[in-house]
Amino acid sequence: MKKITITIDGFSSTGKSTVAKQLAKALGYVYVDSGAMYRAVTLYAMQHQIITKDSFDIDRLISELDNVKVSFTYNDDLGFAEVYLNGKNVENDIRTLEVSQNVSQVAEISEVRRMLVLQQQQMGKEKGVVMDGRDIGTVVFPDAELKFFMTASAETRAKRRYKELLERNEVVSYDDVLKNVESRDLIDSTREDSPLMKAEDAIEIDNSNLSLVAQFETLHELAQTIINQ
Ligand code: DC
Repeated sequence: MKKITITIDGFSSTGKSTVAKQLAKALGYVYVDSGAMYRAVTLYAMQHQIITKDSFDIDRLISELDNVKVSFTYNDDLGFAEVYLNGKNVENDIRTLEVSQNVSQVAEISEVRRMLVLQQQQMGKEKGVVMDGRDIGTVVFPDAELKFFMTASAETRAKRRYKELLERNEVVSYDDVLKNVESRDLIDSTREDSPLMKAEDAIEIDNSNLSLVAQFETLHELAQTIINQ
């Protein structure tokens, strides 16, 4: 059967990864969470005091990029690939609010983007991949056969993210989560290099009032149609 490339871009906490994982599983495709790669580089910068609460040594991060190895290893129990930083599983460590508060600044750096985009293109070169992020349909795979752009109101997204963080026992306030969602939207969509935007040929899905099942079925049907063409 024909293999295609599926890209899912959109604002933070629009549930891209949930539907991307479901879709990859249903189609027998590889799922790649490109945001996890930017988060892993951010974690490196935090662990090495390159980025702190009030400073960010961009030149140092750029000069150390050769020491930052981001990789994925499939976890059979979870049914998806977890992200590793220099050989250590950091799947949980990269999901904290602190990493979320720093990641957009790291993702603005062209040298970081260049390194990660090359790796993402390599991972998708055999097709049969579902990749989610911000620039996947515009920069990483502009020729992808099927592109989605997910949206939902900032409040809907902040509520989802807040619930997730509470489930992970993080002590956070809803207001801080909403502020983070809004500030990441702004930085991600106004940065100079590869800003978040809808590819011309992407299908926009507003999932503010869409159940997970309905959302999955919509994307799955569209994928099946293209695969069977
Ligand atoms: O999808 P996420 O929230 O885990 O992504 C974390 C950050 O990484 C996001 O705020 C912007 C950045 N990012 C990016 O610039 N390009 C991508 N392809 C994926 C994520």
